[in-house]
Amino acid sequence: MKVLIAGGAGFIGSTIASCLIDSGHQPVILDNLVTGRREFAEGRPFYEGDIADRAVLDQIFADHPDISAVMHCAALIVVPESVERPIHYYRENVAKTLEFVDHLIGKGVTRFLFSSSAAIYEPGDDFSVDENSGVAALSPYGRTKQFVEQMLRDITVSTPLRVLSLRYFNPIGADPKMRTGLQVPAPSHALGKLVEAYRNGEAFGVTGVDYPTRDGSGLRDYVHVWDLAAAHVRAIEVYDSVFVGEDPRYQVINLGTGTGTTVLEFVAAFNEVVDKPVAIERAPRRPGDTAGAYTRSTRAAELLGWRAEHTVADGIRDSLAWFAERGKVLPDLH
Ligand SMILES: NC(=O)c1ccc[n+]([C@@H]2O[C@H](COP(=O)([O-])OP(=O)(O)OC[C@H]3O[C@@H](n4cnc5c(N)ncnc54)[C@H](O)[C@@H]3O)[C@@H](O)[C@H]2O)c1
Repeated sequence: MKVLIAGGAGFIGSTIASCLIDSGHQPVILDNLVTGRREFAEGRPFYEGDIADRAVLDQIFADHPDISAVMHCAALIVVPESVERPIHYYRENVAKTLEFVDHLIGKGVTRFLFSSSAAIYEPGDDFSVDENSGVAALSPYGRTKQFVEQMLRDITVSTPLRVLSLRYFNPIGADPKMRTGLQVPAPSHALGKLVEAYRNGEAFGVTGVDYPTRDGSGLRDYVHVWDLAAAHVRAIEVYDSVFVGEDPRYQVINLGTGTGTTVLEFVAAFNEVVDKPVAIERAPRRPGDTAGAYTRSTRAAELLGWRAEHTVADGIRDSLAWFAERGKVLPDLH
């Protein structure tokens, strides 16, 4: 199948593109390179442009009239920046998605996958969520995801579009073949900071050690980005059969491992993989932080026949390998 990937030069979109190619499908990339990398689109049909740019979409569909699904991975994703620049985030993530979808419907697109986030879930008491759990995003970034989901659901009611929202938990790792990985020089999430602490021989700050979790630290559901990518490939292969349940035109699927890993457990797993262990420093919670959650849902297995196959240690190993090797792909980052 031929699949348009908006944001296909970014971390997750480019990994999905590699996985599609490895599975015999053909990605077409649209990306404005605001955070994405041209190198990640090399050797793939690539259109540099904005998702809201009608002319570039006209060109793409003129060149590729056989596109049979669209994956929307294009977004701005930095939570603190979304607090600083809410108008920019709502414009880029919400308003432009509306323009994009409107143009796509005009092109006859009916299959649309949206990169959503588990960050929209309301924190629950037992740290586990499924697709029916309440949503109450805590940041402007999270709310852009929540609002886009609502918007897309409304659009499916009276248009030929059917939408699958995939709520990612906490992606780690890199393409195991090292074609792509995180392109951000200093990632702000736990693994990025852990790698930085390891490289600089510093202690890692565990922010929040008084949560009601088993060891007091926050809890995440770390899913390998290659597993995420494989879920997207499965999703386009079985797309027409996933619309079961209360809504025949809109579906939500959690993509996580189903296992919660606390930050302290994650550091322990990291220290098992590396040669010199990173020390920890206990620090207070940061504003807006939550205890976190893991998925208890079996919907991805039931509807996609998908389960995460990689362990947290695999994700840590592949992330470290990528950080060590990424200068070969991205010469400015070494
Ligand atoms: N990384 C995570 O932890 C995470 C977790 C949950 C959900 N997601 C979602 O997954 C998707 C991909 O995230 P990522 O981690 O790969 O981020 P990323 O920044 O690496 O990728 C986003 C890509 O979209 C492109 N882009 C942004 N705005 C655009 C626009 N208006 N027009 C065209 N291209 C545009 C960027 O250049 C970039 O290549 C996002 O929608 C994000 O919200 C990510």
